[in-house]
Amino acid sequence: MKIAVLPGDGIGPEVTREAVRVLEALDLPGLTLFSGDVGGVAYHAHGHPLPPETLEMARAADAVLFGAVGDPACDNLERHLRPEQAVLGLRKELDLFANLRPAKVWPGMESFSPLRAEGAGAIDCLFVRELTGDVYFGEKGQRETAAGDPEGWDLMSYSAPEVRRIAEIAFRAAAQGSGKLTSVDKANVLETSQLWRDTVNAVAGEHAQVTLDHMYVDNAAMQLAANPAEFSVILTGNLFGDILSDLASALVGSIGLMPSASLGERQTERGTFGLYEPIHGSAPDIVGQGKANPMAAILSAAMLLRHSLGREDEAKRVERAVEKALTSGVLGFDLGGSAGTAEIGDAVLARL
Ligand code: IPM
Ligand code: MG
Repeated sequence: MKIAVLPGDGIGPEVTREAVRVLEALDLPGLTLFSGDVGGVAYHAHGHPLPPETLEMARAADAVLFGAVGDPACDNLERHLRPEQAVLGLRKELDLFANLRPAKVWPGMESFSPLRAEGAGAIDCLFVRELTGDVYFGEKGQRETAAGDPEGWDLMSYSAPEVRRIAEIAFRAAAQGSGKLTSVDKANVLETSQLWRDTVNAVAGEHAQVTLDHMYVDNAAMQLAANPAEFSVILTGNLFGDILSDLASALVGSIGLMPSASLGERQTERGTFGLYEPIHGSAPDIVGQGKANPMAAILSAAMLLRHSLGREDEAKRVERAVEKALTSGVLGFDLGGSAGTAEIGDAVLARL
Protein backbone atom coordinates (compact mmCIF):
# COMPACT_ATOMS: atom_id res chain seq x y z
CA MET A 1 0.00 0.00 0.00
CA LYS A 2 1.57 3.20 -1.23
CA ILE A 3 0.46 6.62 -0.10
CA ALA A 4 1.65 9.80 -1.79
CA VAL A 5 1.77 12.54 0.84
CA LEU A 6 1.48 16.02 -0.70
CA PRO A 7 1.43 18.57 2.13
CA GLY A 8 1.48 21.69 -0.09
CA ASP A 9 1.37 25.26 1.19
CA GLY A 10 0.65 27.27 4.33
CA ILE A 11 -0.75 25.15 7.13
CA GLY A 12 -0.92 22.13 4.78
CA PRO A 13 2.38 20.67 6.07
CA GLU A 14 1.43 21.37 9.71
CA VAL A 15 -1.87 19.50 9.60
CA THR A 16 -0.64 16.75 7.28
CA ARG A 17 2.20 15.94 9.69
CA GLU A 18 -0.38 15.05 12.37
CA ALA A 19 -2.42 12.94 9.95
CA VAL A 20 0.76 11.05 8.99
CA ARG A 21 1.56 10.43 12.67
CA VAL A 22 -1.88 8.90 13.09
CA LEU A 23 -1.47 6.66 10.03
CA GLU A 24 1.97 5.55 11.19
CA ALA A 25 0.69 4.79 14.68
CA LEU A 26 -1.69 2.21 13.20
CA ASP A 27 1.36 0.21 12.15
CA LEU A 28 -0.32 -1.30 9.08
CA PRO A 29 1.77 -3.97 7.41
CA GLY A 30 3.14 -2.99 4.01
CA LEU A 31 2.25 0.68 4.25
CA THR A 32 4.78 2.97 2.53
CA LEU A 33 4.58 6.76 2.45
CA PHE A 34 6.22 8.92 -0.22
CA SER A 35 6.17 12.68 -0.20
CA GLY A 36 6.16 15.24 -2.98
CA ASP A 37 5.90 18.95 -3.67
CA VAL A 38 2.65 20.53 -4.74
CA GLY A 39 1.21 24.05 -4.98
CA GLY A 40 3.18 27.23 -4.37
CA VAL A 41 5.97 25.22 -2.75
CA ALA A 42 6.34 23.25 -5.99
CA TYR A 43 6.18 26.39 -8.10
CA HIS A 44 9.05 27.93 -6.14
CA ALA A 45 11.15 24.74 -6.25
CA HIS A 46 10.34 23.41 -9.75
CA GLY A 47 8.63 26.25 -11.65
CA HIS A 48 5.25 24.47 -11.74
CA PRO A 49 2.53 23.90 -9.09
CA LEU A 50 2.06 20.28 -10.23
CA PRO A 51 5.45 18.99 -11.40
CA PRO A 52 5.40 15.80 -13.53
CA GLU A 53 7.23 13.84 -10.80
CA THR A 54 4.48 14.70 -8.29
CA LEU A 55 1.77 13.63 -10.72
CA GLU A 56 3.64 10.37 -11.39
CA MET A 57 4.00 9.70 -7.67
CA ALA A 58 0.25 10.22 -7.23
CA ARG A 59 -0.55 7.92 -10.16
CA ALA A 60 1.67 5.16 -8.80
CA ALA A 61 0.06 5.29 -5.34
CA ASP A 62 -3.05 3.65 -3.88
CA ALA A 63 -4.07 6.97 -2.35
CA VAL A 64 -2.98 10.58 -2.02
CA LEU A 65 -2.97 12.41 1.30
CA PHE A 66 -3.19 16.08 0.41
CA GLY A 67 -2.73 19.14 2.64
CA ALA A 68 -3.67 22.47 1.11
CA VAL A 69 -2.54 24.77 -1.69
CA GLY A 70 -2.61 28.54 -1.96
CA ASP A 71 0.11 31.13 -1.55
CA PRO A 72 -0.56 34.87 -1.68
CA ALA A 73 2.90 35.35 -3.23
CA CYS A 74 1.57 33.52 -6.30
CA ASP A 75 -1.68 35.49 -6.73
CA ASN A 76 -0.35 37.48 -9.66
CA LEU A 77 1.06 34.58 -11.63
CA GLU A 78 -0.64 33.47 -14.83
CA ARG A 79 -3.57 31.25 -13.89
CA HIS A 80 -1.98 27.97 -15.06
CA LEU A 81 0.94 28.54 -12.65
CA ARG A 82 -1.13 29.35 -9.56
CA PRO A 83 -1.08 26.86 -6.67
CA GLU A 84 -4.82 26.09 -6.96
CA GLN A 85 -4.14 24.61 -10.40
CA ALA A 86 -2.27 21.77 -8.68
CA VAL A 87 -5.36 20.41 -6.96
CA LEU A 88 -7.52 21.03 -10.02
CA GLY A 89 -4.87 19.31 -12.17
CA LEU A 90 -4.70 16.29 -9.85
CA ARG A 91 -8.48 15.95 -9.82
CA LYS A 92 -8.66 16.14 -13.61
CA GLU A 93 -5.59 14.06 -14.46
CA LEU A 94 -6.52 11.32 -12.02
CA ASP A 95 -10.22 11.49 -13.00
CA LEU A 96 -11.31 12.00 -9.38
CA PHE A 97 -14.85 12.96 -10.26
CA ALA A 98 -16.59 12.05 -6.99
CA ASN A 99 -15.99 14.34 -4.04
CA LEU A 100 -17.46 13.14 -0.75
CA ARG A 101 -17.79 15.72 2.01
CA PRO A 102 -19.48 14.47 5.16
CA ALA A 103 -20.82 17.20 7.44
CA LYS A 104 -22.05 16.37 10.89
CA VAL A 105 -22.13 17.87 14.33
CA TRP A 106 -20.34 15.62 16.78
CA PRO A 107 -22.25 14.78 19.95
CA GLY A 108 -21.66 17.48 22.53
CA MET A 109 -20.47 19.99 19.93
CA GLU A 110 -23.87 21.56 19.25
CA SER A 111 -22.93 24.84 20.92
CA PHE A 112 -20.19 25.48 18.35
CA SER A 113 -22.72 25.71 15.57
CA PRO A 114 -24.24 29.14 14.88
CA LEU A 115 -27.59 27.33 14.75
CA ARG A 116 -29.80 26.66 17.74
CA ALA A 117 -28.91 23.40 19.49
CA GLU A 118 -31.92 21.45 18.22
CA GLY A 119 -31.10 22.37 14.61
CA ALA A 120 -27.38 21.83 15.04
CA GLY A 121 -27.77 18.38 16.60
CA ALA A 122 -29.66 17.22 13.54
CA ILE A 123 -26.90 17.98 11.02
CA ASP A 124 -25.60 14.75 9.54
CA CYS A 125 -25.30 14.90 5.79
CA LEU A 126 -23.04 13.89 2.96
CA PHE A 127 -22.25 16.12 0.01
CA VAL A 128 -21.59 14.21 -3.19
CA ARG A 129 -19.99 16.90 -5.35
CA GLU A 130 -19.01 16.37 -9.00
CA LEU A 131 -15.36 17.38 -9.21
CA THR A 132 -14.00 17.26 -12.75
CA GLY A 133 -16.54 19.19 -14.81
CA ASP A 134 -18.77 22.27 -14.75
CA VAL A 135 -17.64 25.86 -15.11
CA TYR A 136 -14.39 24.89 -13.33
CA PHE A 137 -13.03 23.07 -16.36
CA GLY A 138 -14.87 24.76 -19.24
CA GLU A 139 -13.18 27.08 -21.68
CA LYS A 140 -12.57 30.48 -20.19
CA GLY A 141 -10.95 33.72 -21.08
CA GLN A 142 -11.05 37.46 -21.19
CA ARG A 143 -12.05 39.40 -24.27
CA GLU A 144 -13.45 42.71 -25.35
CA THR A 145 -17.12 43.52 -25.82
CA ALA A 146 -18.31 45.23 -28.98
CA ALA A 147 -18.23 48.47 -27.02
CA GLY A 148 -14.56 47.90 -26.26
CA ASP A 149 -15.00 46.98 -22.58
CA PRO A 150 -13.01 44.13 -21.04
CA GLU A 151 -15.14 41.04 -20.41
CA GLY A 152 -14.44 37.76 -18.62
CA TRP A 153 -16.18 34.50 -19.54
CA ASP A 154 -16.30 30.89 -18.32
CA LEU A 155 -18.20 28.12 -20.06
CA MET A 156 -20.48 25.96 -17.90
CA SER A 157 -21.39 22.53 -19.25
CA TYR A 158 -22.18 18.97 -18.17
CA SER A 159 -22.59 15.97 -20.42
CA ALA A 160 -25.15 13.28 -19.55
CA PRO A 161 -22.47 10.61 -18.85
CA GLU A 162 -20.71 13.01 -16.44
CA VAL A 163 -23.96 13.56 -14.55
CA ARG A 164 -24.90 9.89 -14.64
CA ARG A 165 -21.71 8.62 -13.02
CA ILE A 166 -21.81 11.07 -10.12
CA ALA A 167 -25.55 10.51 -9.68
CA GLU A 168 -24.91 6.76 -9.43
CA ILE A 169 -22.50 7.37 -6.54
CA ALA A 170 -25.03 9.58 -4.76
CA PHE A 171 -27.91 7.13 -5.22
CA ARG A 172 -25.76 4.29 -3.89
CA ALA A 173 -24.73 6.38 -0.86
CA ALA A 174 -28.38 7.26 -0.21
CA ALA A 175 -29.46 3.64 -0.56
CA GLN A 176 -26.89 2.58 2.05
CA GLY A 177 -28.04 5.28 4.46
CA SER A 178 -31.34 7.07 5.00
CA GLY A 179 -32.69 6.42 1.50
CA LYS A 180 -33.07 10.16 0.90
CA LEU A 181 -31.33 12.15 -1.85
CA THR A 182 -31.53 15.84 -2.67
CA SER A 183 -30.16 16.95 -6.02
CA VAL A 184 -29.22 20.63 -6.20
CA ASP A 185 -29.30 22.67 -9.41
CA LYS A 186 -30.45 25.93 -10.93
CA ALA A 187 -32.74 24.44 -13.55
CA ASN A 188 -34.99 27.50 -13.50
CA VAL A 189 -32.20 29.48 -15.20
CA LEU A 190 -29.45 27.22 -16.57
CA GLU A 191 -29.61 24.72 -19.42
CA THR A 192 -26.70 22.85 -17.81
CA SER A 193 -28.94 22.36 -14.79
CA GLN A 194 -31.92 21.25 -16.88
CA LEU A 195 -29.83 18.45 -18.37
CA TRP A 196 -28.52 17.68 -14.87
CA ARG A 197 -32.07 17.34 -13.53
CA ASP A 198 -33.33 15.24 -16.46
CA THR A 199 -30.34 12.92 -16.17
CA VAL A 200 -30.69 12.52 -12.40
CA ASN A 201 -34.39 11.69 -12.91
CA ALA A 202 -33.43 9.03 -15.45
CA VAL A 203 -30.93 7.47 -13.02
CA ALA A 204 -33.61 7.55 -10.29
CA GLY A 205 -35.58 4.96 -12.27
CA GLU A 206 -32.93 2.37 -11.40
CA HIS A 207 -33.00 3.20 -7.67
CA ALA A 208 -36.59 2.82 -6.60
CA GLN A 209 -35.63 2.47 -2.93
CA VAL A 210 -34.26 6.04 -2.83
CA THR A 211 -36.53 9.07 -2.42
CA LEU A 212 -35.25 11.83 -4.68
CA ASP A 213 -36.08 15.48 -4.56
CA HIS A 214 -34.67 18.44 -6.46
CA MET A 215 -33.86 21.82 -5.01
CA TYR A 216 -32.65 25.07 -6.55
CA VAL A 217 -29.28 26.05 -5.17
CA ASP A 218 -30.45 29.34 -3.65
CA ASN A 219 -33.23 27.55 -1.79
CA ALA A 220 -30.80 24.78 -0.78
CA ALA A 221 -28.54 27.38 0.86
CA MET A 222 -31.51 28.76 2.78
CA GLN A 223 -32.82 25.32 3.78
CA LEU A 224 -29.37 24.18 4.91
CA ALA A 225 -29.28 27.02 7.37
CA ALA A 226 -32.96 26.91 8.33
CA ASN A 227 -33.79 23.17 8.33
CA PRO A 228 -30.57 21.18 8.10
CA ALA A 229 -32.30 18.03 9.38
CA GLU A 230 -34.11 17.86 6.04
CA PHE A 231 -30.91 16.79 4.31
CA SER A 232 -29.16 13.47 4.09
CA VAL A 233 -27.26 12.91 0.83
CA ILE A 234 -26.87 16.05 -1.28
CA LEU A 235 -25.87 15.69 -4.94
CA THR A 236 -24.36 18.77 -6.57
CA GLY A 237 -22.29 19.98 -9.49
CA ASN A 238 -18.80 21.27 -8.96
CA LEU A 239 -19.50 24.98 -8.36
CA PHE A 240 -22.63 24.65 -6.22
CA GLY A 241 -20.95 21.91 -4.16
CA ASP A 242 -17.95 24.12 -3.52
CA ILE A 243 -20.16 26.87 -2.11
CA LEU A 244 -22.64 24.75 -0.17
CA SER A 245 -19.96 22.59 1.47
CA ASP A 246 -18.29 25.70 2.91
CA LEU A 247 -21.67 26.79 4.23
CA ALA A 248 -22.08 23.37 5.84
CA SER A 249 -18.65 23.65 7.44
CA ALA A 250 -19.77 26.80 9.24
CA LEU A 251 -22.91 25.02 10.43
CA VAL A 252 -20.92 22.17 11.98
CA GLY A 253 -18.88 24.67 13.95
CA SER A 254 -15.59 24.88 12.09
CA ILE A 255 -14.07 24.25 8.70
CA GLY A 256 -11.23 22.70 10.72
CA LEU A 257 -13.41 19.61 11.24
CA MET A 258 -14.41 18.85 7.64
CA PRO A 259 -12.56 16.11 5.74
CA SER A 260 -13.07 15.03 2.14
CA ALA A 261 -12.44 12.16 -0.23
CA SER A 262 -12.13 12.50 -4.00
CA LEU A 263 -12.61 9.19 -5.75
CA GLY A 264 -12.36 7.95 -9.30
CA GLU A 265 -12.99 4.59 -10.91
CA ARG A 266 -9.58 2.95 -10.57
CA GLN A 267 -9.61 0.11 -8.08
CA THR A 268 -6.79 -0.58 -5.65
CA GLU A 269 -6.16 -3.95 -4.05
CA ARG A 270 -8.74 -3.32 -1.32
CA GLY A 271 -10.68 -0.27 -2.42
CA THR A 272 -10.79 2.71 -4.76
CA PHE A 273 -7.95 5.07 -5.60
CA GLY A 274 -8.57 8.50 -4.09
CA LEU A 275 -7.23 11.82 -2.90
CA TYR A 276 -7.98 12.90 0.65
CA GLU A 277 -7.85 16.46 1.89
CA PRO A 278 -9.28 18.73 4.55
CA ILE A 279 -11.71 21.12 2.86
CA HIS A 280 -10.01 24.14 4.42
CA GLY A 281 -7.28 26.01 2.58
CA SER A 282 -3.70 26.99 3.33
CA ALA A 283 -4.69 29.70 5.87
CA PRO A 284 -1.69 32.00 5.27
CA ASP A 285 -2.77 34.19 8.22
CA ILE A 286 -1.90 31.53 10.80
CA VAL A 287 0.92 29.68 9.07
CA GLY A 288 3.88 28.73 11.26
CA GLN A 289 2.07 29.50 14.51
CA GLY A 290 1.18 25.90 15.37
CA LYS A 291 -2.45 26.98 15.66
CA ALA A 292 -4.11 25.07 12.82
CA ASN A 293 -6.58 22.36 13.78
CA PRO A 294 -5.35 19.07 12.23
CA MET A 295 -8.64 17.23 12.87
CA ALA A 296 -9.94 17.69 9.31
CA ALA A 297 -6.65 16.27 8.00
CA ILE A 298 -6.78 13.37 10.46
CA LEU A 299 -10.40 12.65 9.52
CA SER A 300 -9.34 12.74 5.86
CA ALA A 301 -6.77 10.05 6.68
CA ALA A 302 -9.64 8.03 8.19
CA MET A 303 -11.53 8.33 4.90
CA LEU A 304 -8.36 7.17 3.11
CA LEU A 305 -8.24 4.08 5.31
CA ARG A 306 -11.89 3.37 4.55
CA HIS A 307 -12.12 4.00 0.81
CA SER A 308 -8.65 3.25 -0.59
CA LEU A 309 -7.18 0.75 1.84
CA GLY A 310 -10.33 -1.15 2.79
CA ARG A 311 -9.56 -0.63 6.47
CA GLU A 312 -12.98 0.16 7.92
CA ASP A 313 -12.03 -0.86 11.47
CA GLU A 314 -9.01 1.43 11.54
CA ALA A 315 -11.03 4.25 9.95
CA LYS A 316 -13.58 3.99 12.75
CA ARG A 317 -10.84 3.86 15.37
CA VAL A 318 -9.40 7.13 14.08
CA GLU A 319 -12.83 8.78 13.94
CA ARG A 320 -13.63 7.66 17.47
CA ALA A 321 -10.28 8.99 18.70
CA VAL A 322 -11.04 12.40 17.20
CA GLU A 323 -14.53 12.36 18.68
CA LYS A 324 -13.18 11.46 22.12
CA ALA A 325 -10.57 14.22 21.95
CA LEU A 326 -13.28 16.73 21.05
CA THR A 327 -15.76 15.62 23.67
CA SER A 328 -13.09 15.60 26.35
CA GLY A 329 -12.47 19.27 25.62
CA VAL A 330 -9.43 19.25 23.33
CA LEU A 331 -10.43 22.28 21.28
CA GLY A 332 -8.39 24.13 18.71
CA PHE A 333 -8.30 27.89 18.26
CA ASP A 334 -10.96 27.56 15.54
CA LEU A 335 -13.34 26.33 18.26
CA GLY A 336 -12.42 28.97 20.80
CA GLY A 337 -9.97 26.67 22.59
CA SER A 338 -6.21 26.85 22.97
CA ALA A 339 -4.97 23.43 21.83
CA GLY A 340 -2.25 23.75 19.20
CA THR A 341 -1.69 21.56 16.16
CA ALA A 342 0.74 19.09 17.75
CA GLU A 343 -1.20 19.02 21.01
CA ILE A 344 -4.35 17.99 19.14
CA GLY A 345 -2.32 15.35 17.27
CA ASP A 346 -1.02 14.03 20.61
CA ALA A 347 -4.53 13.99 22.06
CA VAL A 348 -5.89 11.99 19.13
CA LEU A 349 -2.94 9.56 19.26
CA ALA A 350 -3.43 9.05 22.99
CA ARG A 351 -7.06 8.05 22.38
CA LEU A 352 -6.38 5.84 19.37
C1 IPM B 1 -12.25 23.19 -2.48
C2 IPM B 1 -11.44 24.41 -2.81
C3 IPM B 1 -10.97 24.31 -4.26
C4 IPM B 1 -12.21 24.29 -5.13
C5 IPM B 1 -10.01 25.43 -4.70
C6 IPM B 1 -8.75 25.46 -3.84
C7 IPM B 1 -9.63 25.31 -6.15
O1 IPM B 1 -12.17 25.56 -2.56
O2 IPM B 1 -11.70 22.07 -2.59
O3 IPM B 1 -13.41 23.34 -2.09
O4 IPM B 1 -12.77 25.33 -5.48
O5 IPM B 1 -12.65 23.19 -5.46
MG1 MG C 1 -14.05 25.20 -1.61
